[in-house]
Amino acid sequence: MARFDGRIALVTGGGGGIGRAIAHALAGDGAAVGLVDTRADGAAKVAAELETLGRRAVGVAGDVTDPVSIRAAAAAVEKALGPVDILVNNAGIARIGPLLEVPEKDWHDSFAVNVDGVFHASRAVMPGMVARRRGCVVNLASWLGKRGAANYGAYAATKFAVVGFTQSLAFEMAPHGIRVNCVCPGLIVDTEMRRVIDDESGRRGLPQAKDRAPGIPLGRVGYPDEVARVVAFLCSDEASYVTGAAYDITGGSWMS
Ligand SMILES: NC(=O)c1ccc[n+]([C@@H]2O[C@H](COP(=O)([O-])OP(=O)(O)OC[C@H]3O[C@@H](n4cnc5c(N)ncnc54)[C@H](O)[C@@H]3O)[C@@H](O)[C@H]2O)c1
Repeated sequence: MARFDGRIALVTGGGGGIGRAIAHALAGDGAAVGLVDTRADGAAKVAAELETLGRRAVGVAGDVTDPVSIRAAAAAVEKALGPVDILVNNAGIARIGPLLEVPEKDWHDSFAVNVDGVFHASRAVMPGMVARRRGCVVNLASWLGKRGAANYGAYAATKFAVVGFTQSLAFEMAPHGIRVNCVCPGLIVDTEMRRVIDDESGRRGLPQAKDRAPGIPLGRVGYPDEVARVVAFLCSDEASYVTGAAYDITGGSWMS
């Protein structure tokens, strides 16, 4: 029996990048997976990939910044697949630039997706978990949720917020038998976000992923499936005594 047999997962931002890898990792071990993304085509494409592997899956259009939209999307996932046991708050955006130049809109957009989005999706899905006294949540924070970096003020502020929210929710949900953790990835390539950051870094004369790789203790960048495997572990019963954690997945960068 696979470790997620009979479990149902909802992955926000599951239409590409790390979210897609997480969906594959969970489905690969038996979960049925709902993908919620503003990019409906991406969510539908990943759902079709999982169905090809013989899993139940559904892709739904939904915007985590809008409580009405994410509630409707969560309801659509539950209608198609059943009650959600596993919530992965993965949807996120990155806007980079120095404080004196960053447009106010970038600051507000970053908080709307990365912080409000985690709040809205958690409130859409977790009442059912509380009622059933069963479930777990994994939030995508970042190593920039533990230390700041020049040009990443908005992004780091949102990810520090995710770590704090995770800990607070872990305290609140422990009496209900629900575990809440987050992961803090470092430099992960092959995602749209990384392409956006590299393009903007190139324009600003800042180091890109390829320039930063040699400075990472493991000497290389990371890949979405390397984040997905840790997320799957945190969702599994193997992590039954893990809650409130902020797992580093950085190739050792968190030390430097
Ligand atoms: N790539 C990295 O180096 C890295 C490092 C640390 C943390 N992270 C975090 O991992 C998560 C995934 O990042 P990624 O690199 O795969 O990015 P990505 O851009 O490839 O994927 C993000 C997904 O979220 C979706 N999305 C964006 N706004 C949304 C909204 N309002 N509602 C619903 N869906 C929305 C996008 O359409 C996209 O499919 C993010 O939370 C990010 O902050 C990424």
